[in-house]
Amino acid sequence: MSRKKIITGAFSAAASTYETAARAQVWAADTLAGRLGEAAGPLRVLELGCGTGLLTRRLVNALPAGSQILATDLSPVMVQAASAALPDVAFAVMDAEAPHVAGPFDLIASSLAAQWFTDLPGTLARLAGLLAPHGRLLLTTLGAGTFAQWKDAHRALGVESGVPDYPGTAALAAMLPGARVESSPLTLSYKDARTFLLSLLALGAQTPKPGHRPLSPGQVRRIIKAMGSPCAITWDILLLDYRRENGP
Ligand SMILES: C[S@@+](CC[C@H](N)C(=O)[O-])C[C@H]1O[C@@H](n2cnc3c(N)ncnc32)[C@H](O)[C@@H]1O
Repeated sequence: MSRKKIITGAFSAAASTYETAARAQVWAADTLAGRLGEAAGPLRVLELGCGTGLLTRRLVNALPAGSQILATDLSPVMVQAASAALPDVAFAVMDAEAPHVAGPFDLIASSLAAQWFTDLPGTLARLAGLLAPHGRLLLTTLGAGTFAQWKDAHRALGVESGVPDYPGTAALAAMLPGARVESSPLTLSYKDARTFLLSLLALGAQTPKPGHRPLSPGQVRRIIKAMGSPCAITWDILLLDYRRENGP
């Protein structure tokens, strides 16, 4: 099965539990919504990876009346979950890496979906091309410091974690000339590392990096024990802000 199908299946299966575990995702959506500022008039908006609609709801509340929002996600189950509560938003199942929309858009927004993309630089370039002349791309994604404590505990045992290789701020900024990127790390406390793993399952975010070989149950138990109780886990949230007028 392709990685994309595995990712879609995991998120589809988690649509009903996602918001019970979405502490970092709420924080990231709030951070992004806080950057929207005041728009002079209605905006044409494309949202990517809308999930259950955490960011979509914030866009509806923050944007001027008359704005047209098209919210999209790879998972049809997520799209169904989000659309149930938002009758005035248009929804579509769409792979953000192959957007089948014409544009132009005044705003393209996405919160914590881009870390699942296969070709992030290529996708950012394609999305920038869908912006209106004064359009803006605003997204949050995960950065290199994400789950540092979990990765350290693996290293101490001489094994590799399945955490994907996320970019640092400079590497993400270099993917889209003209973009500004800042890191806002959020450290959350979990009862223990098992609870952290269960929360990833509830989110549908358990798919490991490509080629990762799963650890034995004994190794996982040792890592969980080594991390103690309670345990702190950092989500390194990167915010990318690109205005087409600043682009090349
Ligand atoms: C962590 S959730 C974030 C959802 C929502 N934006 C939020 O802030 O809660 C990631 C979402 O991205 C979607 N996703 C993953 N890869 C995608 C892709 N290539 N195109 C569109 N959506 C994708 C998943 O289906 C999932 O709903």
